[in-house]
Amino acid sequence: MTTSHSDSRPFSILFVCLGNICRSPLAEGVFRHRVIEAGLDGDLRVESAGTGGWHVGDPPDPRSVDVARRNGVSLDGQSAQRVRAEDFSEFDMIVAMDRSNFTDLRRIAPEGSRAELVLLRDFDPEPGDGEVPDPYYGGPDGFDRVFDMIDRSCAALVQHVRGHM
Ligand code: 4NP
Repeated sequence: MTTSHSDSRPFSILFVCLGNICRSPLAEGVFRHRVIEAGLDGDLRVESAGTGGWHVGDPPDPRSVDVARRNGVSLDGQSAQRVRAEDFSEFDMIVAMDRSNFTDLRRIAPEGSRAELVLLRDFDPEPGDGEVPDPYYGGPDGFDRVFDMIDRSCAALVQHVRGHM
């Protein structure tokens, strides 16, 4: 991967799923947590968004809030937003949870976008099928599994981007 960041703005990263209430809010919270844990500079913009707009303005799903809290991660202050065309010029990196999100993002991306588009589990040391599955319609244990995938991937992603922050 060829992540590059050369201007004076803080390094910026946007995590994207479908609804922006289950997976990407978790990724946003876990990534922030891992950055602080790694003792890295706070000069960083971390956000999340959904390709769909059904939940715009809503807080994260209570099951995401719960699994995050049990793992020492706060999702406080988050509210769902929808991906915008401008995100492709504002963010250095856009990180999709699954291939459907990835394909949707490619379709939304304006010509010549600067953001690097990647799949989160490209960074997972145990990548499985390469996707963070949508836990929305399943039970709470789905959220634990998704948390573990996101946590492993974000730990590796922090190491990947640390030279750019
Ligand atoms: P997420 O999960 O993409 O991980 O936030 C979903 C949340 C809501 C819906 C779909 C997926 N929905 O259709 O409302």
